[in-house]
Amino acid sequence: MSNPILHLSGVTKDYWLGKVKVPALRGIDLEIGKGEFMSIKGPSGSGKTTLLNIIGLIDNATGGSVLLDGKDVTRETDKNMTRLRLTKIGFIFQTFNLIPVFNVIENVEFPLLLLKDRTPAERRRKTMELIDAVGLRPYVHHRPNELSGGQRQRVAIARALVTDPEIILADEPTANLDSVTGKSILEAMKEMNERRQTTFIFSTHDAGVLQYARRIVEIHDGLLTSRG
Ligand SMILES: Nc1ncnc2c1ncn2[C@@H]1O[C@H](COP(=O)(O)OP(=O)(O)OP(=O)(O)O)[C@@H](O)[C@H]1O
Ligand SMILES: [Mg+2]
Repeated sequence: MSNPILHLSGVTKDYWLGKVKVPALRGIDLEIGKGEFMSIKGPSGSGKTTLLNIIGLIDNATGGSVLLDGKDVTRETDKNMTRLRLTKIGFIFQTFNLIPVFNVIENVEFPLLLLKDRTPAERRRKTMELIDAVGLRPYVHHRPNELSGGQRQRVAIARALVTDPEIILADEPTANLDSVTGKSILEAMKEMNERRQTTFIFSTHDAGVLQYARRIVEIHDGLLTSRG
């Protein structure tokens, strides 16, 4: 693959439970190209969340290297990692992680406030663009507990996209949703992938979700058994 956006070599991750080592990832080699719409499939406990957290610069690998745009992020300082995460990566968590006291506008705008490099007018324009893209204009003043599960997931997607990241990571993006809502979320993600060339990497064990993926990578016991 020429110029992969992500290149993982020999990535390992060990967790420690007291003195017991839990090898969650045991040597992952993977190249991901710009604009891919890819799923990571594997049974519970196989290492999907661990892998996404490492790709998303939320957690550090124990060994191996992760190249983002050709740059080794495993050697970066925490400060640089935070900046890279904010500018290049959008993360959609399984549990949404919305801020309960913020309404829809405030939740979506939040990453732009952290970036500190936009004027209030730019922030507002971008925030409303994403809110429209996920169809939440009528709900802008609702707080998360005043929204349905699918609507919350849309807020999380809009928030992940508001900084125009090159990569969106989504951990079981439809796990908490009914199948109709899950389908419309996937359609929205696919449309964004096609329109903006945003790279999407999502984890799932749901066959209905897998059929949307253009590439499926399989993980078992911390090792890739298929690279799609
Ligand atoms: N913080 C932690 N401390 C110790 N072990 C952990 C920790 N997080 C994950 N593990 C272990 O690492 C392995 C991989 O976990 P991971 O959460 O990545 O799996 P998963 O594929 O996302 O599973 P699921 O489909 O249930 O979400 C499991 O054996 C798990 O028990
Ligand atoms: Mg998981």
